[in-house]
Amino acid sequence: MIHVHVTSWFLGLVFFVVTYMLYKKNAGKKAKIFHMITRVLYLVILATGGHMFANYLMDAGIVNKGPIIIKGILGITLIGLMEIILVQRKRGEVRIMNWVFFFITFLLVLFYGYVVIGG
Ligand code: HEM
Repeated sequence: MIHVHVTSWFLGLVFFVVTYMLYKKNAGKKAKIFHMITRVLYLVILATGGHMFANYLMDAGIVNKGPIIIKGILGITLIGLMEIILVQRKRGEVRIMNWVFFFITFLLVLFYGYVVIGG
C-alpha cells in the first residue's frame, strides 16, 4: 500500500507540473487531458493514504495518533493546493502565495511522512 501511495503522489506531482506548463503555454486540449489524469491520481493518493490512515487510527497499539492525523490533513491540503493552482493557472491567474503554501505544505508532508512517522 505504501508503495502505491508513494508512486501515486510522485506521479501526481509530475502530472501536476506538466499540466501547469501546458496551461501556461495555452495548450488547452492537452492540458485538459493531463489535468484529468492528475485528478485520477488525486483519487489514488486519497484512497491509498486514506486506507493506511484508517488502519493506523484503528490500531490500538499506536497511542499517539497526532502525527498521522496531521500527515493526513497536510496531504489533503496539498492536493487542494495543487488543484487550486491548476484551476487558477487555467484562468490565467497566478498567485505567488499559493506556491509559497504549496512548498511549505510539501516540505511538511515529506517531514511527517519520512521523519516523524516513517523514521
Ligand atoms: C500529495 C499528497 C501526499 C503526499 C506528497 C504524501 C506523501 C507521503 C510520504 C512521503 C509518506 C511516507 C512514505 C514512506 O514512509 O515510505 C506518506 C505516508 C503516508 N501517507 Fe501520505 N502523502 C499525501 C497524501 C496523503 C493523504 C491525503 C493521506 C490520508 C488521507 C495520507 C496518509 C498517509 C499515511 C497514513 C501514510 C503512512 C505512514 C507510514 O506508514 O510511514 N497521505 N505519504
